[in-house]
Amino acid sequence: MMSIQKQPEKTGKIVLIGFMGSGKTVVGRCLSQLLGWDFIDTDEEIEKVTGCTIVQIFKKYGELRFRSEEELVLKKLLNRKNLVLATGGSMDLDNRNLELLKQDSYFVLLQADLEVLQQRLSRRNSRPLLGKRPELARIEELLAAREGQYLELADYILNTSGLNVEEVAQNIAGHFQGFYQPREEKQA
Ligand code: S3P
Repeated sequence: MMSIQKQPEKTGKIVLIGFMGSGKTVVGRCLSQLLGWDFIDTDEEIEKVTGCTIVQIFKKYGELRFRSEEELVLKKLLNRKNLVLATGGSMDLDNRNLELLKQDSYFVLLQADLEVLQQRLSRRNSRPLLGKRPELARIEELLAAREGQYLELADYILNTSGLNVEEVAQNIAGHFQGFYQPREEKQA
């Protein structure tokens, strides 16, 4: 009988990627609870390590410093297993840590319609690259610059517009487990 082979080297982590406001943090937390896995949000980790908010880091030291903090956080997480990881919205494809992460992780791209992103992003003024109430055109421009990278990394893509956090997390958990579970086990 044909069976879907489990790929142990691919099951270490689920990494959520996507634009600001796509829901990586809230979905990641919920997903980790569903799977009984640990959860880490790289932004929260950076804030813990540096003692500064993301807004403060951008303001005081600039985006480059933020990206290198992001890289350091990733490096520390490479060997972790059973981890759901919510990333910041822009990760450099040339980043070697990201390549290493890719080897044992299942990358999920969360997407949302532009208007939905705008609505979500207008709730809090916590994205230094966008400011409060970003224009649709600004979101579209930044997203267009990143979408190729996101798509290249993604093992699974989900548009979250119209779905609540739990629905998105359930969807990912179901897809992830279904994909990696050998068929015999599924039928047992
Ligand atoms: C960023 C996304 C933010 C945060 C920082 C930069 C980006 O995280 O890392 O403001 O460049 O897309 P969220 O995607 O969680 O908003």
